[in-house]
Amino acid sequence: MSELPWGRRLLMCRPEHFTVLYEINPWMHTEVRPDPDRAMAQFDGLMAQLLAAGAQIELMEPVEQLPDLVFTANAGVVNGRQFVPARFRHPERQGETAHDAAWFTAHGFAVEWLPDDVVHEGAGDALPFGAPGAPGEPLVLVSAYRFRSDARSHPALSMLTGAPVRSVELTDERLYHLDLTFCPLDDRRAMVAPLGLDAYGRKVIDALVPELLVLEEDEALAFCANSVVVGRNVIMPSCPPRLGRILESWGFAVAVAPVDEFLMAGGACRCLTLALDVDLRG
Ligand code: ARG
Repeated sequence: MSELPWGRRLLMCRPEHFTVLYEINPWMHTEVRPDPDRAMAQFDGLMAQLLAAGAQIELMEPVEQLPDLVFTANAGVVNGRQFVPARFRHPERQGETAHDAAWFTAHGFAVEWLPDDVVHEGAGDALPFGAPGAPGEPLVLVSAYRFRSDARSHPALSMLTGAPVRSVELTDERLYHLDLTFCPLDDRRAMVAPLGLDAYGRKVIDALVPELLVLEEDEALAFCANSVVVGRNVIMPSCPPRLGRILESWGFAVAVAPVDEFLMAGGACRCLTLALDVDLRG
């Protein structure tokens, strides 16, 4: 069993301007605003857990009027020194893209764009899986469509990155991004929430992942799949005893970083990070 070959360098963004200004997923209610001090404390707590797990963290500047910029997972897809910015579904988040592209350009990435008539929300809807096989053999990119990304974006993403893309359709609006339903753990194992996938999507994941930790409905709706994996460490928004036992029996160390202020915006631990060390070319 090899550890994930990515996830040790993460991009994050402090929640200085984080709030719930609009409603673009079923968890967001503008009349229930997160508490700014608690959000900052929870963010710091998550960062501390990630650093303790051995991750390196880069921070991008928060921007006023872009409350969801904290969810860096949606910035785009990273592949070596290539960065493919998201095409956001909702106008409320489209203003983030210029800031994301500028950060990646300033950090030496080549920014390459998806066509402007498709939507795709970055690593929130695209996660690599697999072992770097023979040298040069690419990882598989599992990518979701329906709520935030179009199926039509997948061939374009595959063309740009050179990675084979396995498309899965999401079915439950509460699990509107792939990273709420699927969490690669190492080169053979992943967590999956069948609640969020149709029969075909479940088949795709079954065929791809040799050993699955299948989440129950309440675990999925607590965003347990939205965990950050750093080597053998899993940092979770919450961890029911059942999951903790299985993960530990598989050799993972589990840490909980409560992020309930961010759940009010429909995001948790993974959404608050973007892996900068993904190389799909294996
Ligand atoms: N409020 C944000 C949105 O609806 C939350 C994004 C969560 N990100 C994720 N990767 N699941 O777009």
